[in-house]
Amino acid sequence: MRAALRARAGAAFLAALAFPGALSGAEPLPTIAATRVAGPLPGGPRDPGWGKLASVEVTLYPQAAVAPAARARPLALALRAAHDGRTLALQLAWRDATRSRTRGIGAFADALAVQWALGGESELPYVGMGHRGHPVALWFWRADGTVETLAAEGFGTLSAQRADGVQAEGAWHDGHWQVVLRRALDSAASPLHARLAPDAAVPVAVAIWDGGAQERDGTKRLSGWHALALDPAHAARAAASRVAGNAANGKRLMTVKGCVACHAFPGNPARPTLGPDLSFAGGIHAPGYLREALSAPDKIILPGKGYATAEGGTRRSIMPPLEASAAEREDLVAFLLTLK
Ligand code: HEC
Repeated sequence: MRAALRARAGAAFLAALAFPGALSGAEPLPTIAATRVAGPLPGGPRDPGWGKLASVEVTLYPQAAVAPAARARPLALALRAAHDGRTLALQLAWRDATRSRTRGIGAFADALAVQWALGGESELPYVGMGHRGHPVALWFWRADGTVETLAAEGFGTLSAQRADGVQAEGAWHDGHWQVVLRRALDSAASPLHARLAPDAAVPVAVAIWDGGAQERDGTKRLSGWHALALDPAHAARAAASRVAGNAANGKRLMTVKGCVACHAFPGNPARPTLGPDLSFAGGIHAPGYLREALSAPDKIILPGKGYATAEGGTRRSIMPPLEASAAEREDLVAFLLTLK
């Protein structure tokens, strides 16, 4: 598997190794450097101490490929991270005009999940809940006070885990949520708990549900993978996307190669539903995943009616593997990365 991935990722794999902060085998990710503080960590969500820390803007995109988005607009979230060598604290702040705290029939609460990649770093898990052999750990906070430690290894496999000690607290003020999560660095007691090791960057992604806009379950907004670094040595800023492809030619190939028959995306006048909506694919997915989605559609099959057939017990995507030159594939990936 590793060998195959290396061959496929080719030059990108080798280039990634040259970055001290990059995750081996993966494309360099945008980095979030946690500030090491000497004194006490900032406390609750509105502690002014947070304001002294640098914030990183993380953009969350409607996960249009999995569920029709209630709000088809990206959302900017400000993330601050700090640790004191023992505990990691995260503050996540975003705009939400309405505070939705209670759940009921047809009513949904605002919620947040922080998702951590587990296991080998040679291949990132699918950003929406991982995939087989590549699990993710999740910290879930909901505005009704729920805090949960969860894990998943693909669509429909989300399961509660025993508590790993994560604590969360949210405050809504003046049209904004501020939520603080904290956990001891060394309290991972199970292989399905987030490992917050100071010696490597940890891939992390964030999801938000706006309860007032009826968002729940798969209807959410999701970021792509970022790398959280506890040690500045691992925080080398990732280079801007190093995909060399020509996006304009990629756009043309979307028609030539028949992608337009199955996928909706801006610029495709037809709104086909045979395959998932790719409108935000470039915001959520890393180039490596997109390459693989084109070459090996069967590897990760999205949940969707009619997306797969079962031949002799094996699920096969209805998407044909791309037949194109390496350069054409890079052009398609470059175009897909513009979709956000
Ligand atoms: C016959 C219909 C069909 C064609 C043609 C097709 N796809 Fe797909 N595509 C699908 C289906 C169905 C899925 C979801 C199942 C899966 O994951 O394989 C999918 C998944 C994808 C994904 C993954 C989306 C995500 O969010 O994970 C990408 C990217 C993609 N297709 C791009 C393309 C491109 C680019 C082309 C043209 C070269 C193309 N597809 C051609 C049906 C198609």
